[in-house]
Amino acid sequence: MTAQLNPRGDVAVLVPAAGAGVRLGPGAPKALRPLAGEPLLVHAVRRVAAAPSVHTIVVAAPATEVEAVHAMLAPVAPVTVVPGGAERQASVAAALAAVPAGPEIVLVHDAARALTPPGLVESVAAAVRDGHDAVIPVLPVVDTVKEVDAAERVLGTVDRSALRAVQTPQGFRRSVLLAAHRSAGDALTDDAGLVEKQGIAVTCVPGSELALKITRPFDLSLAEHLLSTGV
Ligand code: CTP
Ligand code: MG
Repeated sequence: MTAQLNPRGDVAVLVPAAGAGVRLGPGAPKALRPLAGEPLLVHAVRRVAAAPSVHTIVVAAPATEVEAVHAMLAPVAPVTVVPGGAERQASVAAALAAVPAGPEIVLVHDAARALTPPGLVESVAAAVRDGHDAVIPVLPVVDTVKEVDAAERVLGTVDRSALRAVQTPQGFRRSVLLAAHRSAGDALTDDAGLVEKQGIAVTCVPGSELALKITRPFDLSLAEHLLSTGV
């Protein structure tokens, strides 16, 4: 049985949450670690569920935690929980396989981007609804970027104005994401990358600084601070 959120919604959101969180340091799987007293995944799912277009949420959890994650999220939103895989791509594929018939827009959203505003979920979904096959939220790159060789010698300066930092949720027409995952070869960290390999156009929409990926201890401290300011 697949749990349903808003029966009139046209969006399924896949939430890969099966990673270990190695860069955060020793401890529980990252999605289950506390942020202001609640697991990161609870913050992430609460914000996704607040987006009115969302029909279904499928979470890919660490394989040993499927029951615990389901119990943890039940008070937050109706969700389907499946066991994730060894790589992010496998976790996304497992979640994609559990999407029921109905939603024709599929978003993929990292649990680690726990403070992502519901409005970003809506704007990515709206761009797919408007006819774009694949949509990614992006921010301008603020630092100067250098290309270096193996000895850390600078080879050149990259034109920053042509670069974008990519966030999630990434949005797709359902058939496009299914085809991309069916033909996936090497593991990528990014679903739009799979779609690009199919030769399909990927469109950018403005991202949000609140959609930062909690990766290192500094990011967790920053997220704690942002929550304390009422975000
Ligand atoms: N993810 C997943 N399955 C995996 C690996 C990652 O579902 N096998 C998820 C993570 O839970 C996270 C998102 O993909 O929500 C982005 O990955 P990342 O930030 O790299 O998280 P981790 O892999 O947990 O962190 P690390 O790479 O530091 O171990
Ligand atoms: Mg990882």
